[in-house]
Amino acid sequence: MKDAELVTRAKEAAENAIVPFSGFRVGAALLSSDGRLFLGCNIENASLSMSVCAEQVALTNALSCGVKSFEMIAVWGADDDFVTPCGKCRQLILEFAPNVQVIMANRDCEFVKKPIEALLPEPFRHRTG
Ligand code: THU
Repeated sequence: MKDAELVTRAKEAAENAIVPFSGFRVGAALLSSDGRLFLGCNIENASLSMSVCAEQVALTNALSCGVKSFEMIAVWGADDDFVTPCGKCRQLILEFAPNVQVIMANRDCEFVKKPIEALLPEPFRHRTG
């Protein structure tokens, strides 16, 4: 799938966003290595702390389907600037999709693409034992 197509799918996913508090719609489209697409949007609720980002929804959607290998994730937001994943989502993406390319798009579907390592240098990694 082409980068621009993935951005379009992320924009479509944002139509389902539930954003009564921020009013800021975000959509994510995650492409697995075997060519499957997993979508997500941000969902806010009155507790605020339980609100979830679009990237988190897309990734947990895929992981809960048993999918573990990913190629790209596109994030689209209704903003003039490119929407960049928050710190928590960067950690989540790096842990579960370490080789992924992150496409960050603005409302006009213009975008930049960077590997997740570039967005989260020197990440925390859990050590066992
Ligand atoms: N948000 C995302 O869903 N992804 C991002 O990359 C940035 C922020 C959401 C969280 C919240 O619902 C709203 O955007 C405003 O911060």
